[in-house]
Amino acid sequence: MKKFIVAIDGPAGSGKSSISAIVAEKEGFTHIDTGAMYRAVTLEALQRKINLEDENEFKFVNDIDVIYKEGKTFLNGKDVSSEIRSQEVTNNASLVAKYKIVRDRMVFFQRESAKTGKVIMDGRDIGSVVLPNANLKIFLTARAEERARRRCKENELKGIESDFDTILNEIKVRDYKDAHREIAPLKKCDDAIMVDTTNMTIDEVVNKIISLINERYNKMSKEPSFEELLNDFENKPTLRVGDIVEGVVVSIPDDKTLLLDIKSFTEGTLHLNYFTKDKDVTSFKGLVKLGDKFTCKVTKIENGQGRNDHSLIMLSRLDQLKGEAFDSLIKAKDENLEINVHVLKEVNSGFLCTYNGIELFMPKSQALKDTKVKDDVLVKVIEVEEKRKRAVVSAKIIEHEKYIKDRDAELEKINVGDKLDGVITKVEKYAAFVKIGNVTGIIKARDVAHEFVDITTVLKAGDEIKVEVLSKENGKLQLSRKALIKTAYQEYKETHKVSDKVQGRVTNKQPGYLLLEIAPNLKGLLHQSEYSWNPNDNYNNQVVIGDMVDVAIIQMNDEKETIRLSRKALMDNPWDKVECKVGDETNVKVKEVNPKGLVVEAFGVDGYIPLSETMTEEKKDISDYYAVGDEAKAVVIDVNKKEWKLKLSIKKLANKEARAEFEKYLKTEEASTSIGDQFKEVLKK
Ligand code: DC
Repeated sequence: MKKFIVAIDGPAGSGKSSISAIVAEKEGFTHIDTGAMYRAVTLEALQRKINLEDENEFKFVNDIDVIYKEGKTFLNGKDVSSEIRSQEVTNNASLVAKYKIVRDRMVFFQRESAKTGKVIMDGRDIGSVVLPNANLKIFLTARAEERARRRCKENELKGIESDFDTILNEIKVRDYKDAHREIAPLKKCDDAIMVDTTNMTIDEVVNKIISLINERYNKMSKEPSFEELLNDFENKPTLRVGDIVEGVVVSIPDDKTLLLDIKSFTEGTLHLNYFTKDKDVTSFKGLVKLGDKFTCKVTKIENGQGRNDHSLIMLSRLDQLKGEAFDSLIKAKDENLEINVHVLKEVNSGFLCTYNGIELFMPKSQALKDTKVKDDVLVKVIEVEEKRKRAVVSAKIIEHEKYIKDRDAELEKINVGDKLDGVITKVEKYAAFVKIGNVTGIIKARDVAHEFVDITTVLKAGDEIKVEVLSKENGKLQLSRKALIKTAYQEYKETHKVSDKVQGRVTNKQPGYLLLEIAPNLKGLLHQSEYSWNPNDNYNNQVVIGDMVDVAIIQMNDEKETIRLSRKALMDNPWDKVECKVGDETNVKVKEVNPKGLVVEAFGVDGYIPLSETMTEEKKDISDYYAVGDEAKAVVIDVNKKEWKLKLSIKKLANKEARAEFEKYLKTEEASTSIGDQFKEVLKK
């Protein structure tokens, strides 16, 4: 056996290193413990006292040398085999091992050391990353409890006291970290053979691995039978130009060349020009690593049988790139990602752009205003046409999404009751739209003013406006302008008070009241009882709509914002001066004679003497007895100042006087019965 590579991966404490060391010793392999190498970097990092949490501080790995040789670990030439086993290193190694910069450097050292003949390398990613073409891949594992038990025993032998539960926990934590890190996590490769050592002794495991090595080696070196060759020939199609193959990078001979194992008669060669169209990429170094897999198209085959005796397979990834780029466009669409496209040329309806060799169309309506040819523009994919491998992109959508995001954030901060400044953007018959920053709200017509208005005459687009937030439901703002302006009543109240004399125009005339407009959009109520002191005065015959009436404010109700007015408050009440009572006598002057009686002037107001209370003889015409201007004496028989009622009687007074004279006569002279009888007849009436 000249060259044979064994990759052993597995979790911490599965015995990889010890077993590998024994197998190597027995079978003449070089053993490389890659865990020890990560430990060495950890030791260096600890010694440098850098912040282990910051990957940027690990740049030093490119300046150090880590070599594992003959069971010893050398860090910059110094044997650090025992230091790297300290608890501090053990505890921090998985953190350090997750950094890309560290792994790239270690993988480089590991591949270098695997170049020699027979190698057995153990670690976590040997079969998957470091040596994907290893001849034998083994995944060595054991139950966590068993691994913890072994670690305790090991410590016991070294005289170190240890607690099983603590160690078990540490092992579980490390397993988790190793299996869940982003780069090269611990996992069993599909082509690795699982060996569970939980119930095996060390010897049993060693023997098992040696037999697996031998088995694999024998299989490899066995001459194929005719049937096998035939079978191979029939089943394996001959490689042709145009075939699509999957290759694993096995060598990077120079900056611009990759050799890929494509499982054919020779490695495939892939030049940088056929790897990417990106002019900025000038080297494979740092871009591709051994073990990386690529799908390529075969572009040329020379099998060494012609005049040229060398074999050659040329590969290209450019077609694949297009497919991959298109896949990434689909992904960008599905996941709503932004991509950077290059504007190639302007056409009638938009711009043609490119993205990794794919032509894209950006309609004018989806482009930003200042888009120019040769620009690199950030866009989102809005439509993909898989068949023709074309897509439509939009830069506007990003702007729009940002606007929506900003708007939502602004809306979030707005609360009901807030008083805000805005600008009117549109006025319609029933509502106006107001922009407050990026947020748009609506003022319904009824919230524009206190009075009914045609909002198109009050508001116009472009005007600044102060509004109050009435509600915010489902992201919709309802605003009010009127909440921030005074009502006509409030304004009036500032300059008017109860008892003020004002003028109002009659706008409404009802049986019990009048409405007077006393200021624009403000009406006061003039109740009929406040119209005149004279209860008989009826405004129906005196007032028409549109008349101006002088009134006094007699009540202002701030809560209901109503105003009561009085006309009579401005007038003298002649009845105030009337001082009389039933039985009082007075001189009256006839003002009017009518069939029912007399209207007379008495105590400065109008009194009334019914026909029955005059001296008119029955069935005779009253005007034969009384004329306007006549004066007479009368007695008050009923008075109601409030009702403006004063009723008098001439007759009763006359009778009274007659009786008084009669009584006087009876007292002063011995009256004769005949005279007395005469008077009796008079008094009867
Ligand atoms: O096997 P070990 O305990 O000596 O490994 C030390 C650390 O290095 C451990 O946390 C896993 C990590 N490691 C790794 O990430 N990749 C490897 N190939 C080997 C070890």
